[in-house]
Amino acid sequence: MAETLRSSAQTMMAAEQIIPPPPAFAAQALLGSHSAFVKRWQDSVENSEAFWAEEAAELLSWEKTWDQLFVDQGECRFHWFSGGMLNASYNCLDRHLTSRAHKTALLWEGEDGSERSFTFRELRDLVAQFAQGLAAKGVKQGDVVTLYMGMVPELTITMLACARLGAAHNVVFAGFSAESLGARIGDANSALLITADVCYRRGKEIPLLAISREALQQCPDVRELIILERAGSPPLPQSSSGEHLLFPPQGGASHFRESSWQETLELAKGQQHPAVAVPSEQPLFMLYTSGSTGKPKGILHSTAGYLLGATLSCRYVFDLNDRDIFWCTADQGWITGHTYGLYGPLSLGASVFMYEGALDFPDWERVWRMITRHRLTIFYTAPTALRAFIKQGPDRPRAHDLSSLRLLGSVGEMINPRVWHWFYHTVGGERCPLVDTWWQTETGAAMVSTIPGAVGSKPGSAGYPLFGIDLQVVDENGSEVARGSQGYLVITRPWPYMMRTIVGDHQRFIDTYWRQLPGCYFTGDFARRDADGYVWILGRCDDVINVSAHRISTMEVESLLVAHPLVAEAAAVGVRDALTGQQLQCFVSLQPRVSADSSTREALIAYIVRSIGSFARPREVVFVESLPKTRSGKIMRRILRDKAEGREASGDLSTLES
Ligand code: WTA
Repeated sequence: MAETLRSSAQTMMAAEQIIPPPPAFAAQALLGSHSAFVKRWQDSVENSEAFWAEEAAELLSWEKTWDQLFVDQGECRFHWFSGGMLNASYNCLDRHLTSRAHKTALLWEGEDGSERSFTFRELRDLVAQFAQGLAAKGVKQGDVVTLYMGMVPELTITMLACARLGAAHNVVFAGFSAESLGARIGDANSALLITADVCYRRGKEIPLLAISREALQQCPDVRELIILERAGSPPLPQSSSGEHLLFPPQGGASHFRESSWQETLELAKGQQHPAVAVPSEQPLFMLYTSGSTGKPKGILHSTAGYLLGATLSCRYVFDLNDRDIFWCTADQGWITGHTYGLYGPLSLGASVFMYEGALDFPDWERVWRMITRHRLTIFYTAPTALRAFIKQGPDRPRAHDLSSLRLLGSVGEMINPRVWHWFYHTVGGERCPLVDTWWQTETGAAMVSTIPGAVGSKPGSAGYPLFGIDLQVVDENGSEVARGSQGYLVITRPWPYMMRTIVGDHQRFIDTYWRQLPGCYFTGDFARRDADGYVWILGRCDDVINVSAHRISTMEVESLLVAHPLVAEAAAVGVRDALTGQQLQCFVSLQPRVSADSSTREALIAYIVRSIGSFARPREVVFVESLPKTRSGKIMRRILRDKAEGREASGDLSTLES
């Protein structure tokens, strides 16, 4: 802990100056003064029930309003807006048809430059029709549907179609392997998988269908695989029931049938499934993320609370208005893509831009060209991407007309002051506020940020807790530390858009988040609050590392490695990396008579990629005779990190094994 804190502290001492909101922006912003923010924030935490009630009534459309705003049922079962009924797809689509039917809801660009766009009416019609198709296949309220599709409009349509039926979606990032996909389908108890034949990245086809079929070998309960055809598949064969089958059953070998996404839509032609009003707490989705133990956690989010957080933060943090075209570069397979690539902007009736493919393909100008071409107004991305842009030529954005931009955002890891200034000056031309948003898959939406027209930024600090959110920086005993000191970041009370549980393991939810420091939500991050109340995030205090804004559990990698027949013992650590934030490095001692050569190394790397996905590829696998351990047998990861980062092993080594 001391090491992480020391190095982060050095970074932040560099710049504590306040950059005020650009005046032209502040003049037209929803909240345009610091005092207005402070007053509203204070009010929002002192009278929090009134605050949440007022925002929920104003921002969301309800079939029936709630009877009780907040109910603590004990055992960390928190219910918000009890008795309320609503539908997320209605809120994102139908309610906009009176005034925005012909406005663009979704604009998509493929890696090959092809474009598609959908008005709110078109998107609503497709969603309602596809929901009807899913209903015809037996999908109903309370079911779980897994999606493994890549970044295509049909992903958005499918997610909203699930929401329309009250079924929970479980989106799996297309970079995950068959094994990870299968594990997520099984854990979520999902009977249906929707995929595409391929998706495209860096000009290559990723064989999603082949991966899906392999994954389903470990999922005996899945009865159907629906496939979006993108690669110009041959004409569909006809089944005896008259329904088209994408791939005819092969001698009954599979336990699941295969059908086509387009056919599912086509069969429901002319029919529109109504938006089913569901209770506030109906699960809207689950999303798997890495935790500090080996097994990924299925983070479950509710309908009303989550949608309120997504909508509210879009309104205040992104100052979203009717003319905005919001580009969140995160993949929809992660929480950022859910909240800011779909639910938040659409719920407010803003247009969303979606891009399939790599940001640097075919070259590093791609991003700036897309902003210019589509006149995008909000650009929300991760520091790892910004560092890559700087490396490829810091002046490149200047060659493009980026005048459509009015607000910039950063998420996923601490944005270093140097990168902050580059983004603000070179991309934003000093006229766009830059909001640094701290939050987590678990929190559902932004928790700490600046309010762009009202609160100045300190580059490197995420800002203040948002409305209705109260946080503290505390020591091991849960006592608040003095301003300026470092400690654990906790949220002091439940909030509507927080996760509700871990799928299938409520006890783990209690233990991980609510029992570490009793009464508080434990974020797993170190932080410091400065004298002005700004929050500085200093990184994780658990075994989760952040590689290019992807969360990877070092424990998950370790448990995989020790399960491999060639491996005796293993440790995985995160080491600092100038481009990606952190990189994964593994230390492995091999079983007797296994040679420590490049083919063993390659085999272990391939095994990790196969088990998790290519984004978890370790930078290095180092073979060691034995791992440094304490007398009680715990692996001393700090020493391994020091070694990996080229430092002399520090601290007390007297307890080392050898
Ligand atoms: C880190 C992504 C510093 C943090 C939304 C958190 C950040 C984890 C920031 C959650 C930020 C996210 N500044 N660190 N602005 N945003 N983090 O679940 O360690 O993928 O706990 O959610 O990313 O990652 P997750």
